Amino acid sequence: MTVPSSAQSITARHESLFSERAAGIKQSAVRDVFELSLDPSLVSLAGGNPYLQSLPLEKLGEISRRIITEQGPVALQYGSGLGTEELRTQILEVMAAEGINNVAVDDVVVTNGSQSAQDMACKVFCDPGDTVLCEDPTYVGALNTFEAYQVQVAPVLTDDQGIVPAALAERITSLRAAGERVKFLYTIPNFNNPSGITLAADRRQQVVDICREAGVLILEDNPYGMLRYDGEPAPTLRSLDAQNVIYMGSFSKILSPGLRIGWAAVPAHLFRRFYLAGEAVALCPPTLNQMIISTYLREHDWRGQIDRYRTLYAARRNAMLDALDTYLPAGINYTRPEGGFFIWLTLPAGINTYDLLQEGVKSGVIFIPGTAFSPGDEPSHKLRLAFCAVDEETITEGVRRLSSLLERELASLSG
Ligand SMILES: Cc1ncc(COP(=O)(O)O)c(C=O)c1O
Repeated sequence: MTVPSSAQSITARHESLFSERAAGIKQSAVRDVFELSLDPSLVSLAGGNPYLQSLPLEKLGEISRRIITEQGPVALQYGSGLGTEELRTQILEVMAAEGINNVAVDDVVVTNGSQSAQDMACKVFCDPGDTVLCEDPTYVGALNTFEAYQVQVAPVLTDDQGIVPAALAERITSLRAAGERVKFLYTIPNFNNPSGITLAADRRQQVVDICREAGVLILEDNPYGMLRYDGEPAPTLRSLDAQNVIYMGSFSKILSPGLRIGWAAVPAHLFRRFYLAGEAVALCPPTLNQMIISTYLREHDWRGQIDRYRTLYAARRNAMLDALDTYLPAGINYTRPEGGFFIWLTLPAGINTYDLLQEGVKSGVIFIPGTAFSPGDEPSHKLRLAFCAVDEETITEGVRRLSSLLERELASLSG
């Protein structure tokens, strides 16, 4: 189709209006793959979608109806930029279930998911050119936010126990020596997305101490913490330091991502600037959705629901690990997460997993290529598999398809 010349000229004129920031905003590979995952002939091991069929949907329907009919004028009205008093108080209970007891209601701001708390943090702390530290790999949504704020992202060395404390200290020192303004460490200490790796308990105090002494804030992103399937829980960074850690929680993985409700627990001296930054974008988190969550927490056995999720996801994680142990060709390493949604595969260096995805589509299986989870656009020989959204049989079939594909790829590499 030819574009009329008047449309061309308006396109060109508008091109010159874009901010520099907009050039850095790109569609994430996770979104690209989302479209593909709708094809029912493909096995999708791509999306980190919680399995909502397991929720008490009747109950949630009844709660929603009751709130709108009985309290509609409140539920459908603007609300406080901080969130409702009831939900902020209940969030303390949710955090206590994770062993966090050093937060007061006045430290909590309800956000539109943890994603918008990341955005608020960047808005409050980062000028273009500032540096933030993160794990490599890390959550693609956070990387997109960092790019939108034109900050430099400096990965810190990690191993199978998470961030290496000595490397963190060294990285801060060398960045500062080079004149960089290091603002915060963004970290997912429990069951990192995408790697599934958990920061070892005995490293946590060290990470907290290094950052505090260096004057670098910590942004602790913990949406998966309650989805632990084995091993012992480790203390959150926030519980080790109430002054230098901004904690971000979410109802997305333990209840519903579509409700778009998360929160940040912010040290008192940072709180006002932080929450005003959120108000400037969304005015307030959705009142109706907060009331639905509050009623659910008040009237339903939400801890029991999390236990059901744990049982369900543990079985799926086990099915994926069993299938990988059984079918995957030699020479491929993968993580064995104790919780969360993801397993991270490292293939031989010659394989570009972005190209491999195109072959995966032909073979009937999709995943997320590793490049999505690292700063920069370097090709990656790693990939993420999610075990949360599909049943065990489908997981096994997906891993079988992936394994056959990888056998062919490895044969062509060595041939
Ligand atoms: C580490 C991490 N942080 C944040 C989010 C987004 O959470 P929310 O739905 O609360 O915005 C995700 C979602 O996948 C995630 O994996």
